[in-house]
Amino acid sequence: MSFEELGECELGTQEYWDKLYKTEISNFRNHKDVGEVWFGEDIADRIVRWMNKNVPKESVIVDLGCGNGMLLVDLFNGGFKNLNGIDYSEDAVVLAKEVSDHCGTSTEYFVKDILKDNLGEEHYDVVLDKGTYDAISLTSDARHSRETYIDNVHKCLKDDGLLVITSCNWTKDELCTQFEDKFKIFDVIPTPQFKFGGKIGSVVSSVVFKKNIIL
Ligand SMILES: C[S@@+](CC[C@H](N)C(=O)[O-])C[C@H]1O[C@@H](n2cnc3c(N)ncnc32)[C@H](O)[C@@H]1O
Repeated sequence: MSFEELGECELGTQEYWDKLYKTEISNFRNHKDVGEVWFGEDIADRIVRWMNKNVPKESVIVDLGCGNGMLLVDLFNGGFKNLNGIDYSEDAVVLAKEVSDHCGTSTEYFVKDILKDNLGEEHYDVVLDKGTYDAISLTSDARHSRETYIDNVHKCLKDDGLLVITSCNWTKDELCTQFEDKFKIFDVIPTPQFKFGGKIGSVVSSVVFKKNIIL
């Protein structure tokens, strides 16, 4: 299947996220408002339900581009304890740590750029991504950024590792095409669907890929 790059936009820049999380920290400190949960609570609940059913509780899990870390809070409350969050915005990590302390959860947080920093080799059982590949697809050199992302996620996963990716910019079929060299589809997490002109589509796609072992 062919697809077109999305084009550059401010959501693909670190400046955008740094500015947003500065405001979100101040809202959290003043009103205990955790800020935006991307794609809403319902999608987060669906991911957590899928994880509860399919992933052993002792798995080593990382949320790439974790933002305020709310997905990790939900997973902790679901019984997962080996949780890590990575974001390139220092303020996102400050916010995520404060949210985690406030909620009484325990998660390791790191400031790292997925495209530039070492994420570790064969380290994680599960990589989570909710909205981060979308942001990476909006950078100025999107094709190169997407390819680097796919390589780096492949590298940091253990041999049987899973990538649980949720996107509002790409359909399931587009994600399968983009990831097919390094991953095979493992499952699809059902998301709300709409019907338009007789065709059924989803606003958000949530796909689970399994790492291909490349010899
Ligand atoms: C759409 S937000 C999603 C936040 C969170 N995953 C959620 O679902 O609420 C995208 C996140 O990806 C982070 N991000 C974007 N590019 C990144 C990169 N190259 N390395 C690390 N984090 C990145 C941003 O700082 C932001 O927190």
